Amino acid sequence: MKALNYRVNSSRVPIYIVDSDSTLLAQLRGVTKAAVVVDSRVAELYKNLVSEIGGVDGTVITTFQAREENKNLDKLEGLLTFFFQKNIRRDSVLFAIGGGITGDLSGFAAAVFQRGIDYVQVPTTLLAMVDSSVGGKVGVNHNFGKNMIGAFHQPSSIIINTKFLETLPKEELICGLGEITKYAVLSGEPFFDFLEKNHVKLLNKEEKTLQRIIKMSVETKKRYVEKDVRESGIRAHLNLGHTVGHAIEAATNFNKFKHGEAVLIGLVAESHIAMHMKLLHPSHFERILKIVRQIARQSNEKVPLEEVLNRLNYDKKIKSGKVRFILPTGIGRVVIRDDVSTKNVTDAMKFVASDGLLSIT
Ligand SMILES: NC(=O)c1ccc[n+]([C@@H]2O[C@H](COP(=O)([O-])OP(=O)(O)OC[C@H]3O[C@@H](n4cnc5c(N)ncnc54)[C@H](O)[C@@H]3O)[C@@H](O)[C@H]2O)c1
Ligand SMILES: [Zn+2]
Repeated sequence: MKALNYRVNSSRVPIYIVDSDSTLLAQLRGVTKAAVVVDSRVAELYKNLVSEIGGVDGTVITTFQAREENKNLDKLEGLLTFFFQKNIRRDSVLFAIGGGITGDLSGFAAAVFQRGIDYVQVPTTLLAMVDSSVGGKVGVNHNFGKNMIGAFHQPSSIIINTKFLETLPKEELICGLGEITKYAVLSGEPFFDFLEKNHVKLLNKEEKTLQRIIKMSVETKKRYVEKDVRESGIRAHLNLGHTVGHAIEAATNFNKFKHGEAVLIGLVAESHIAMHMKLLHPSHFERILKIVRQIARQSNEKVPLEEVLNRLNYDKKIKSGKVRFILPTGIGRVVIRDDVSTKNVTDAMKFVASDGLLSIT
């Protein structure tokens, strides 16, 4: 089967975009011993698949309840203990079946178990398919911050089976579309244009359209990962929409907006900032705004503005004491700036509130 590949250091990571379980089952049958971690919701929805996996010789399965508060060191230790109890060895392969939470935690377990074993990402949410499964960033949360403990550990392959999306709730689909919209702005005209024309089909989960946009997204991410595996330079562009998005999530204790929703709002806010700094033409701002309006839900969730401003100062993307913003300068172009004023951010937050994406207090 033809796979998309990305290369990091000397290895090649194949990405299979498929619409059946056969690739996963074939890979499982091809290894002597496999540990499979399945998101418990996915295990419930796909009982037949789980029993087929259970029937493969040398395979052990455990389930994991995918909640952000479970992406922690305790659950990591639980997983490692399970590996020891089941005699997982250095040459065993871990398969992570689930969304980004399952993939991040399991991938980190694979990174540290006996100094690192191979693992395969089997993403089941749109966000995980286009973002978290690609690029090798794995980790867990700590009280001092999200994703603050982790590693770079590339998967040995990624199997994207779009059939999983049939059961994905709409709000989770929107989350994936948040990251996809970010890629469209980063990537440029053909991708952005495709999204403008096809967002309705995507929201209706039309399979062929989903497959195409997933491929375009993964190709976009792969270009950044290949150039900058450890995120010390250009990979930071993937944080477009995330500086303000993350501050909104943090200011609302991570329980009012889903990550992708916050990224959509962050995209509009950062585009607004760019327009007011005369970096982005108003017609491009309008296009970004229009696509976000079509995808994001309207909300009057209360967000404390002061807290957003405070959080921006804690943001881990801070370099030399200044907050770094990735600002769009066109469709397909961004710059990194550290001279965004508090007034710029305040005005942008007021704008997203007036547009019905949140309310500020
Ligand atoms: N490593 C990276 O580069 C990277 C990038 C982006 C995000 N992330 C991380 O990813 C996590 C978010 O991932 P996510 O949005 O996939 O969340 P998630 O893993 O919590 O999944 C969202 C919800 O969907 C359910 N679910 C999963 N697959 C399903 C399916 N096929 N049908 C029905 N329900 C299904 C899950 O049980 C969960 O309730 C965050 O922890 C974030 O930090 C990591
Ligand atoms: Zn993100």
